Amino acid sequence: MSSIASLSLLVVFIATLQYVAEAYSETQAQAFLDLYNENAAVVFSDYTHASWRYSTNLTQHNRDIKQIEAGKAANFSSTSAEKAKKYLSDVDDYSEPVARELNFIAAIGTAVLDDEDFEQLQNVLANMSYFYATGKVCKPDDNTDCHAQDPYLTSIMANSRDYAERLWVWEHWRNNVGRPMRQLYSDYVTLKNKASVMNGYEDYGDYWRGNYEDDDLEEDMEQMYEDIKPLYEKLHAYVRYRLKEVYGDKINLDKGCLPANVLGDMWGRFWNNLYSLVEPYSGGTNVDVTDEMKAQNYTVDKMFHTADDFFTSMGLAEAPPPFWEESMFVKPTDRLVECHATAWDFSNAHDFRVRMCTEVNMDDLMTIHHEMGHIQYYLQYKHLPIEFRSGANEGFHEAVGEVIAMSAATPEHLYSIGLMTELPDDYESDINFLMKQALTMVATLPFSIALEKWRWEVFRGNIPYNEWTKQWWEIKNKYAGVVEPVRRTEDDFEPGAMFHIANDYSFLRYYTRTFIQFQFYKAMCDAKGWDKDIFKCDFYNSTSAGKLLSDMLALGRSVSWPDAMEAIAGTDTMESGPLLAYFKPLDEWLTQQLDNLGLSNEVGWDPKCSWKPYHVDSKNQNQMELRVSSHLLGLLYWPLWFYRLFCKKRPQQLSYSGLFYQFSLFYTS
Ligand SMILES: *[C@@H]1O[C@H](CO)[C@@H](O)[C@H](O)[C@H]1NC(C)=O
Ligand SMILES: *[C@@H]1O[C@H](CO)[C@@H](O)[C@H](O)[C@H]1NC(C)=O
Ligand SMILES: *[C@@H]1O[C@H](CO)[C@@H](O)[C@H](O)[C@H]1NC(C)=O
Ligand SMILES: *[C@@H]1O[C@H](CO)[C@@H](O)[C@H](O)[C@H]1NC(C)=O
Ligand SMILES: *[C@@H]1O[C@H](CO)[C@@H](O)[C@H](O)[C@H]1NC(C)=O
Ligand SMILES: *[C@@H]1O[C@H](CO)[C@@H](O)[C@H](O)[C@H]1NC(C)=O
Ligand SMILES: [Zn+2]
Repeated sequence: MSSIASLSLLVVFIATLQYVAEAYSETQAQAFLDLYNENAAVVFSDYTHASWRYSTNLTQHNRDIKQIEAGKAANFSSTSAEKAKKYLSDVDDYSEPVARELNFIAAIGTAVLDDEDFEQLQNVLANMSYFYATGKVCKPDDNTDCHAQDPYLTSIMANSRDYAERLWVWEHWRNNVGRPMRQLYSDYVTLKNKASVMNGYEDYGDYWRGNYEDDDLEEDMEQMYEDIKPLYEKLHAYVRYRLKEVYGDKINLDKGCLPANVLGDMWGRFWNNLYSLVEPYSGGTNVDVTDEMKAQNYTVDKMFHTADDFFTSMGLAEAPPPFWEESMFVKPTDRLVECHATAWDFSNAHDFRVRMCTEVNMDDLMTIHHEMGHIQYYLQYKHLPIEFRSGANEGFHEAVGEVIAMSAATPEHLYSIGLMTELPDDYESDINFLMKQALTMVATLPFSIALEKWRWEVFRGNIPYNEWTKQWWEIKNKYAGVVEPVRRTEDDFEPGAMFHIANDYSFLRYYTRTFIQFQFYKAMCDAKGWDKDIFKCDFYNSTSAGKLLSDMLALGRSVSWPDAMEAIAGTDTMESGPLLAYFKPLDEWLTQQLDNLGLSNEVGWDPKCSWKPYHVDSKNQNQMELRVSSHLLGLLYWPLWFYRLFCKKRPQQLSYSGLFYQFSLFYTS
């Protein structure tokens, strides 16, 4: 035998050994997964408990504990990922669920970063989050009289009709919360991109989009925006017309954009608080039951039980004892907490909680249904391996509570639980109801896609740092027809004034979920056997609708979302059809109204929003501001040049360590 031949035999032999050493059987892979699940339940649960303790009691001590747990969890994730990758080198031999689970474990996100980068990222996230949680706005005439977002600022932005007051809050929330975050956000973009590239993605936006397992996602999302744009434009034109009655020359009827400070909340995300200003028929039934809830002495506890009862009436799971014992339903007065409503899964299959600073009103009643929708998903998939305890896609998770809330908000349902004294049965009330729904569900779509487009382009490097503010507004102008009410500069950082951006949540979920919830709603109403107007369908008590939903929820993320969608709605795509069908009567009504008002040709807006509120009197801005202020009763607010006073310094910032990815641990509203 020649030496070459024996050498090649040796090579073959070694290669075979190598192969044997790396080939794992399905049984071995399954044993690894079982062990992973056992350990993950402990590690993630410890981390989640530490996060909970910190977020409901923002102290240095609690931060330190959380930091330690985050380190352990990151360690566990990266070690497990390495092992999963070894198993995956033999992927062809595994059955689909095993391969899928291994793939999820192998994708570890930012735990891939080296220690120094990981720690820096944790500090950046912690500081952004802390700025947001502790942000305040002080009264213009007293810089020691400062107020947190909840409930004070939230209430002004929900209820005030005073343009100057709304502008003060709007502007100073952004100055105080967004601005200090600008440099931190730049570090965040760099580090998140770095981790994403190390995980095989182009950038962090690419990673987020990966959740949808769809190469055409961006075009699909754009197409859905085009689908709803005609309806949104009409809603926008009608709202603009009605707001003109309230805010006069701040609103331009001639294809003007809407000033961002008049839209019913701090961000213009949901417009439902504009309902009383734009109510189509004042003689129709008031579909907002806040006053009735107060008259009936509703308590926060009763609100949570009302929502829980909705789920159980459909044969769905009830919230377990730890939920009632451990949740934070109201804002404590003895400590600093994060208030933005969130629903928590402690990864141990029995502990699930909500953190919320609830107020007694209809808005919060619906938010409770939203958060309890997340809890319901957690309960339905708790039997699955940890990696499959997640929404089929992120929009699915957000859609569950929404679809329940859609039914809970119908006059039919509110009447049945005694929050309406009579059941309205006339065209005017139908239109009022649809208007209220559209202010939430249609108005939010351009808001959501504009927000996420800005971040995608920032992650791609297409928006340079020195154009962040400029392009933020350009995208918002174009997609939503909303304009900044005062001049903003590149010292500002508007995105940071929004919870989800400061706290590292992807946002496309709120866009996709809005379409998805109408698909679910249609399917569940069909299951109930509803054959009247779709928007009147209430599936309370319908166990067939409940079963359709729970069968799908129980799949978690063990299958890809088109399969989950197929299981509930009989189609494997996200579609705008059901949403448009639901709003058809309102769409026709809007067309007619705008025609009657002679506004048909004014529908839409100049995408550059060239008319800006602060240009109204460009000759002398100060004079204009003075005129506005002098109308104010009781001189609660001073002329702008006295506004130069600044807020009290924030308490010493804390930093804490957050987990690499918030995969399925906490969902928010
Ligand atoms: C908040 O955390 C501190 C530890 O930093 C602890 O001493 C205190 O009891 C906690 N407060 C509550 C109400 O849990
Ligand atoms: C992470 O794992 C390494 C090696 O196993 C260990 O030395 C280190 O102490 C761990 N770090 C934490 C925070 O647990
Ligand atoms: C976070 O804030 C703390 C306290 O103000 C500060 O010491 C630390 O440098 C900040 N970290 C980053 C990354 O900005
Ligand atoms: C609500 O509380 C007020 C004041 O305590 C009481 O007068 C009223 O009767 C209560 N209303 C109902 C419906 O219980
Ligand atoms: C739901 O079912 C309960 C018990 O069967 C019944 O008392 C109630 O009237 C039903 N409610 C509605 C709105 O159908
Ligand atoms: C508040 O305003 C007073 C009076 O203008 C000023 O002296 C003080 O420095 C301000 N305090 C802060 C914290 O900005
Ligand atoms: Zn949510």
